[in-house]
Amino acid sequence: MSKTKNIPPRVPEGEALVEEPDFTIEELNQAFKKRIKEYTRFVDYIINDLKIKDNSKVLEIGPGPAWISIVFVKKKPLINLIGLEISDDMIQLAKENIKNEAVEKHIEIIKGDAKNMKKFEDNCFDVVITHDSLHHWEDPIMVFNEIERVLKNDGIFCIADGRRDLGLGAKLIFQIAKFVVPKNIRYYWKTSIMAGYTHKEITEILDQSNLKNKYLVKTDLFDLIIHNK
Ligand SMILES: C[S@@+](CC[C@H](N)C(=O)[O-])C[C@H]1O[C@@H](n2cnc3c(N)ncnc32)[C@H](O)[C@@H]1O
Repeated sequence: MSKTKNIPPRVPEGEALVEEPDFTIEELNQAFKKRIKEYTRFVDYIINDLKIKDNSKVLEIGPGPAWISIVFVKKKPLINLIGLEISDDMIQLAKENIKNEAVEKHIEIIKGDAKNMKKFEDNCFDVVITHDSLHHWEDPIMVFNEIERVLKNDGIFCIADGRRDLGLGAKLIFQIAKFVVPKNIRYYWKTSIMAGYTHKEITEILDQSNLKNKYLVKTDLFDLIIHNK
């Protein structure tokens, strides 16, 4: 019997969270900020396990309110980070957070869609990262091809996103979250999970892209983590 048989179908989540009516922008910003420990683990993984250079030129796709970018440049002040973001509301929020955290010199936020990054030359970034954005992309193959194009030959990429093929432990945690996580946050958490890919699906998609033969997909309780071999 196929292991994926009981996985419900993917339900793409098109809009950025900020366009949903039951959050104010500030509530949304605080909801993101509460995940700072998770963001710090992601950044530490990139810095320590993937071993980036201190003066790397970094692209973050879909930085949203930019908390990951902010954590990153505080840990590695010599890097130069560009955030490519599709949503005007998120860009505004990101710029405010970057200013309040006094890291404007290190981060530039640019408007754009990752499926077409023509504003960036071939082989121009040392590192490309993205967190919780993949499940929003309407054409992930185009984005993977663009990541491969803009990344230097020895460049490092790290793509993390929620997985839909949750194990029993993660499902249990989601149930327990009913008692501690507010209903509106749980609703968006669930829609993100439903929009995520399974390990099998993302492997099939990556194999159709120019990242074929260059990637590893790892899983943990809630996430898929895709990076160089
Ligand atoms: C759930 S938020 C995650 C924000 C941030 N990376 C984090 O983990 O806190 C997803 C972000 O990806 C952005 N996004 C979605 N599709 C995009 C695309 N094609 N190009 C650039 N940004 C995109 C959304 O606007 C949103 O800000």
